[in-house]
This record gives sequence, structure tokens and C-alpha cells, in this order.
Amino acid sequence: MVAPDLYSGFLRAYPGFKPTWSRTSIERATDDLRACAEVLGPNELGRILADVDPSADVEDFWEGCARMAASQRAAAKRGGRLRLAERGSWDTESLGRRLGPVLRQETGFHARDEFIDHPLLQRFGGRSIVAATSYDQDVDGDLGPELMGELVALRDAGHAEAVIKLAASKTGIVRVRLAGRSSEEILHDLQDDESGLGWSLIHLDGVRDAFRIQPVIDMAHEYRFFVVDGLVVAGAGCIEEHTPYDRDEEFTITPDSFVTEALVCCPRSLFPPRLDTRTREVRGTLGREGTPSVVHRPDVVGRLMAAATEMVASCPGTYALDLAIDRDRDQVVVVELNGITNAGLYAADADRVQLALAMASDKGYGHLDRPAD
Ligand SMILES: Nc1ncnc2c1ncn2[C@@H]1O[C@H](COP(=O)(O)OP(=O)(O)OP(=O)(O)O)[C@@H](O)[C@H]1O
Ligand SMILES: [Mg+2]
Repeated sequence: MVAPDLYSGFLRAYPGFKPTWSRTSIERATDDLRACAEVLGPNELGRILADVDPSADVEDFWEGCARMAASQRAAAKRGGRLRLAERGSWDTESLGRRLGPVLRQETGFHARDEFIDHPLLQRFGGRSIVAATSYDQDVDGDLGPELMGELVALRDAGHAEAVIKLAASKTGIVRVRLAGRSSEEILHDLQDDESGLGWSLIHLDGVRDAFRIQPVIDMAHEYRFFVVDGLVVAGAGCIEEHTPYDRDEEFTITPDSFVTEALVCCPRSLFPPRLDTRTREVRGTLGREGTPSVVHRPDVVGRLMAAATEMVASCPGTYALDLAIDRDRDQVVVVELNGITNAGLYAADADRVQLALAMASDKGYGHLDRPAD
């Protein structure tokens, strides 16, 4: 008998259906809850649904539900079953059958972001991204570039603002003003930043390469591509309030022009990419004035897809690739990369992603393929 596929995720607090969903979305969500019942058992699902928490995060719950249900269907489609994975089962054999997210306790709270220095970001980021260390002047040893010195260098090179990212966690990203500021003023701003960056400067003092520094650029139309075994299988705009249940056939393209020779001769020619054509022109992150409305831009998505295809060909693998248009230079740039099983789905086709992953030789867990520390 074939060994079952393994699923490593769970469902979060249940917020109820999203009030804006159409009847079709609600039907799809209901079907997915049924699929989750097969994975979790009806009693466990019943327990979760009985406790409706209107303050629970809508995207968190429904993303998890979509991923679990799509994994269940992917396993069934391949004639197998899906079973919940044991915590910490990261031996090569079980990782080869696993489909769900990497749980925090598997990497540790301060685990490094494995994708922060990915070659695609370095090559196609369209901006300099420098590793830096925060340290007192009199520490010994080579700790690489120093944070404040790098910020001042960016200011002197004419950049008005910078972004600082913490390498140790996915939660730290801060925007800092440089133009017309002295280094004392910049440091003061960092120490005062409401995100708690000041504490990180102390806490990570002397930790080599704990930060990444980059100039702010004018990113528009941020878009997430799901790349499996070196092929784009799905994509959706980075629209925070979207979930797979907000997917709409009317806004989905399967660009024929991208069914290249590579796709045709590979078994996954069955899966030409399915792309949601909606984007948000400017994301309201890092204090930027975002555009609240969602725009329908198949032209932009086609352009991003062409760039993604080229980038992925130069660096195959399994990951989520976030691209955007740099409006100043009118070029496609990489925003960042993430592990595919942990990246939010937005309105992407979860079935396409999970089925491709179920069939993939590289499920994107490379960094977990080691014994627990
Ligand atoms: N250099 C930059 N210039 C302008 N905006 C940026 C820059 N870097 C990041 N941003 C903005 O900040 C957002 C978050 O950055 P990024 O995706 O790299 O970090 P993250 O830790 O994954 O945060 P999130 O979980 O919000 O995606 C991006 O989606 C983008 O809108
Ligand atoms: Mg991001």
C-alpha cells in the first residue's frame, strides 16, 4: 500500500464566513470544511467550528482551511490519503511526503529566514540589499558592515528613505527617513520606532548580519508566484484581504503563450499556470499610502509572468516569488521570496499549488532536512 501524504498544519480560531463572499465562495468554503473533516476527524472540526470567534483573523483561518482541503484532494486525486504529520517529523522520508506549513516550533522562534539572501533577490531586486550588524564601536572581531554606517552611506548616495529588515524573524521590517537627517537623528528614530526596533538593536547587538538594509523604491502591483520544481503553477496579487475563496474564474488567466516547450515536455504540462489578474496598485505597508481599490490588470500580470518565467528558469526550485513593478525605473523587481508552504495564498488556486506540490520532487523543505538541534 502507498504511504499516505502527510499534512503538517492545523486550523486556527474560526471567524465564520466572510460577509462579502458570494454564494459560490460560500459553497466552496463549505466543501473545503468537509474535506478538512476528513483530515482532522469530524469531532475535532466540530469543536473548532462550534466556537465562532468574530475577532479571529479571517485570512488566517481560511488560508489554512484552503490549504488543508486542497492537500486532501491532491492526495485523493493521486489515489492516496492524507494524514496529519507528527510534530518534528523532518527526516528525509517524511519530508518527501509532506504538504503543509513549517510550524514555528520546528525552526525555533528566532529561526533565520532562509530566503532572505536568495540569489534571485540579489540578481533581480533592482536595488542594493546589504547585510549589516549593529554593534558598539569597541567590539572585537570582524562583524561585517555596521548598520548605522550603511544607513549614512545610503543617505549620502542620495536615497531619501531606507528599509531595515530583521534577518532573524519574519516579523521585523521598518522604514526609516534618511534625507536631511544626521546620523544621530537617524539612530534616535530607530530607537524610538514603534515597532520595537530599538529593542532589537540592543538585543541583536554584535549578532553578525542580523539586519538587511535597502533603499525604499516605488513598488507597485506586488504579485506572488507559486513556483514548484522550477515552474510557475499559480499566482495572485498581494491583496491582503483575499483568500482562495475570493478567486474568481472571471479574473483568472492561463496564459497559452507561457505554455512553453519546457512545460509541454514535462508531466505538469497538465498544470499551465493559473493566474489571478487582480492587483493592488500600492500596498499600504511601511506607512505608504496604499490604494484601497483592487484593479484588474491582465496586462501587468502578463508582464510579471514573463519576468517570473525568465527568473525561475535561471534559478529553479520550489518557493513563493514576490515580484513588483518599480515605477521609477519601469522594471520588474523581486520583492522577496518565501517558503512556498508558509506563504499566504491570497486568491491563488490552492488546488493547483497543492497538487503540484504533492507531485513535486522538491517540496521546498530543503532547509528542514536535518535533525533537530
Ligand atoms: N525596498 C523597498 N522599498 C519599498 N517598499 C518595500 C521595500 N521592501 C519592502 N517593501 C514593502 O514592504 C512589504 C514587506 O516587505 P517584505 O515582503 O520584504 O517583508 P515581510 O517580512 O515578508 O513582510 P510581509 O509579511 O508584510 O510581506 C513589501 O510587500 C513592500 O510593500
Ligand atoms: Mg512579504
